[in-house]
Amino acid sequence: MNFKKKPFGFMDMLRFKKMVPTRRKMLAEGENKPLPQEYRTNILAKKLHPGYMQVELTDARALSDTIRELTFKRVDTNEFPFFRAGQYVSIQMKIGDSLVSRPYSIVSTPKQALENKLVLAVENAGFVSEYLNKKAKVCDSFVMTEPSGEFHYETLRDSKNIICIAGGSGITPFISMAGSLADGDENYSMILFYGARTAAQLIYKTELDKLTAQCKGLKVVYVLSDEEHPECEKGFISAKLMEKYTDLTDSTFFMCGPQAMYDFVGKELAPLNLPIKAVHHDATCCGDLPMDNPKEFKLTVHMRDDVYTIPAKENETLLTAMERAGLNAPNKCRAGGCGFCHSKWISGKHRVAENRDGRREADRKFGFIHPCVTYPMEDMEIDVPVAY
Ligand code: FES
Repeated sequence: MNFKKKPFGFMDMLRFKKMVPTRRKMLAEGENKPLPQEYRTNILAKKLHPGYMQVELTDARALSDTIRELTFKRVDTNEFPFFRAGQYVSIQMKIGDSLVSRPYSIVSTPKQALENKLVLAVENAGFVSEYLNKKAKVCDSFVMTEPSGEFHYETLRDSKNIICIAGGSGITPFISMAGSLADGDENYSMILFYGARTAAQLIYKTELDKLTAQCKGLKVVYVLSDEEHPECEKGFISAKLMEKYTDLTDSTFFMCGPQAMYDFVGKELAPLNLPIKAVHHDATCCGDLPMDNPKEFKLTVHMRDDVYTIPAKENETLLTAMERAGLNAPNKCRAGGCGFCHSKWISGKHRVAENRDGRREADRKFGFIHPCVTYPMEDMEIDVPVAY
């Protein structure tokens, strides 16, 4: 065989021989100063992702008979992290013996977060929301998770034209998205179809009209199902109605509202054969299963060095059972998607709510569950991390 001589290989050898003495020299000449305790990147990461935040209710006002707007400030520091308009926070509180939390879309804008202001609008529709709607008062303290969620505009994925469809209290993330557009923090062109039964139920109409007047890229179409109104369309948010205002083919859809609205609009959009990535739904919490006489099982929960045995109903998620018992189990979306409640299954038959299994294949294979969407079918034992 013929080998070519490589003079550069020889040079590399020489350099390699010198490497150790050169390093020793540089170390000897280096500054004799301890490394910084914190690096700028870590400080920024902590600012953007604080994990849990201590907050205080600063203002509350009724938006309708059933919806109350709540304004919070952070008390562990003086600003909220910048977030993506459309995201949610989960708010935790103690009600009686239960330690409960619920996710709510953020109404205020990312810019307002930097002014230490975060607004939620809560519809009175359950145990926690009833407490927030009727009992929470100014100066009350809460624990809140950092803003999270995938329901936001993504430049690389979405069309510049976004069609937003809101039903009832599902308007909340779109107020933030419209506000963020008006603030100059987003560059999409947004048309919002806002459906309600009557004009009185169109919460935030005044704010939306004001934003529309000041922002060229925003248009709002109000749609009432039960009432005629000079400023509104009558009926439902059908494809025909939307086509009257915009091109449906070159757009990305964002929807937030009740399941009935998702089903209806989904059927309307089906003939367009849109790619999956062109339609985003905001997640809804996984609720109780409709059952007449649910059985009660024993749930054994390992949390670090402690073991608890608590009751768990067959129609309630394991997360609800733990909250009822006052255990501080981690959770955010309560819809199976974020993985924040990720826990180890030890024993016991269980079922996962339909279309809610957001686990990775490996998690499924190695026995991990999401307690927020898992219902017991017999006595169970699980290992759960502590929230904080
Ligand atoms: S809380 Fe998000 S997956 Fe369970």
